[in-house]
Amino acid sequence: MYVSKCTNKIKAYYGIFRYTQRRLVSSEHTPQLPQCDFKPLQFKSQLKSTSLDSIKRNVNACFAQMYSDPMVISQGHMQYVWDTSGKRYLDMFGGIVTVSVGHCHPTLVEALSKQASKLWHVSRAHVYEEIYDYSAKLAQRLPSSLSTIFLCNSGSEANDLALVLARLYTQSFDFIALRNAYHGCSSAAMGLTAIGTWKYNFPNGFGIHHTLNPDPYRGKYGGKACRDSMFQVNRECDCKVNECVACDSYIADLEDVLNTSCSQKKIAGFIAESIQGIGGVVQYPKNYLKRAAELIRKRGGVFISDEVQTGFGRTGTHFWGFQNHDVTPDIVTMAKGIGNGFPLAAVATTAEIASAMNEALYFNTYAGNPLASAVGSKVLDIIDEEHLQENSRILGSRFSIGLNGLMNQFDNVIGDVRGKGLMIGVELVSDKVKKTPLSKAAVGAILDDCKEMGLIIGKGGAFGNVLRIKPPMCINDADIKFAIEVLEKCFENHNRREKI
Ligand SMILES: Cc1ncc(COP(=O)(O)O)c(C=O)c1O
Ligand SMILES: *[C@@H]1O[C@H](CO)[C@@H](O)[C@H](O)[C@H]1NC(C)=O
Repeated sequence: MYVSKCTNKIKAYYGIFRYTQRRLVSSEHTPQLPQCDFKPLQFKSQLKSTSLDSIKRNVNACFAQMYSDPMVISQGHMQYVWDTSGKRYLDMFGGIVTVSVGHCHPTLVEALSKQASKLWHVSRAHVYEEIYDYSAKLAQRLPSSLSTIFLCNSGSEANDLALVLARLYTQSFDFIALRNAYHGCSSAAMGLTAIGTWKYNFPNGFGIHHTLNPDPYRGKYGGKACRDSMFQVNRECDCKVNECVACDSYIADLEDVLNTSCSQKKIAGFIAESIQGIGGVVQYPKNYLKRAAELIRKRGGVFISDEVQTGFGRTGTHFWGFQNHDVTPDIVTMAKGIGNGFPLAAVATTAEIASAMNEALYFNTYAGNPLASAVGSKVLDIIDEEHLQENSRILGSRFSIGLNGLMNQFDNVIGDVRGKGLMIGVELVSDKVKKTPLSKAAVGAILDDCKEMGLIIGKGGAFGNVLRIKPPMCINDADIKFAIEVLEKCFENHNRREKI
């Protein structure tokens, strides 16, 4: 087990709780990154020019850069990255929820190097041990029914395959996804995705229908007890215990889509993230997924859980996000955290559903090759050995409490704090009652400010107004304390800019 040089714990855990009570930092105080003894390499650029514009010339530009003045990142170690000037940052976004166990985790680097000097690649037409070892290990983490693993290269590819599996197995075409979902960018996955900024203007998504997003904060329905989160939406309702009108209403909408848009004979399936990621950390009313899966199965379809962001212990209480919803999927797709940044993804399903693929040949060159399998296998070991699921549970709660304290303090701009474990969202608004999304420029200024102070966080949501906090699961209390202090400064600066 690797003991990080960056795990100096702060003594008083209750320090975080105090954020809820009072302002922690004076306006003169500059938040200090927790101590880290790791020494990054001296940066030596291999590029002919260090001007950003010239180095970017040959790279496609269809993905937005996060900062107005981006740093060039040159090294990573656990929860930190360094830019080319040697400045250190706490990475609370983990390369979009991908760096699960830590940047360049030494044990993982060792396993990768060992495999790299032994065997990189042989075709699946040959037998090699690594893929069998790893697939068995991964299957052990899943419900026993999901015993067949397909390894892939990316989340989009995994979702494409899941869609094909569902259609072949059911011999049906109609498929349901949620509005505000993100399932990938390949032409098939794009049909599942339902956030306009990710959709191109060409035919996609035949047979895919999008139902109302069960978002208790911004959606049509929602109330004071909908969420499986430490904090509920700021919305009233008359629901009694064990009653959720919002859930009933969203399920009725799903039923309406099934009645009106789909073949009445049979459908292929339904896909959902356990907590929406790119959509802005949206959590559905409790029981929504369970009831949706029941409804879908009644119509002959299968339920696919997209665990690309919520898997591998991130939600803290469970290893998989779907376990928080008390539902067992027929197909599970995973990527991102599965390989800590190594291109690896997977689909897990029942032997029966998997056999639907046997009528023809299916393979992809790289997936599950010895290198990828060795990495995936070691990631699972590290999550166990370093108790990262437990860390997500405990630190996620402390983080959420700190953020909720900030919401009380900056009531004008923080509309909602939500999430589970180390999958946290902070929705920013310019009008708390109308829930007007905070402008792109204002969100951008907050992110820029964070970056200047050494904190990287993400953003998401259909309006780009949700701060997304999904760090490598190895963070510690000192990191949280620092992040909260920086965010406090950022909101103070925001209010100063807005003259509030
Ligand atoms: C929930 C979810 N599903 C699927 C994908 C697609 O994964 P990839 O980018 O590896 O194709 C993503 C990527 O962000 C995602 O967040
Ligand atoms: C869908 O159709 C079924 C069967 O006809 C019906 O019982 C149900 O009320 C319908 N649901 C909605 C939301 O219209």
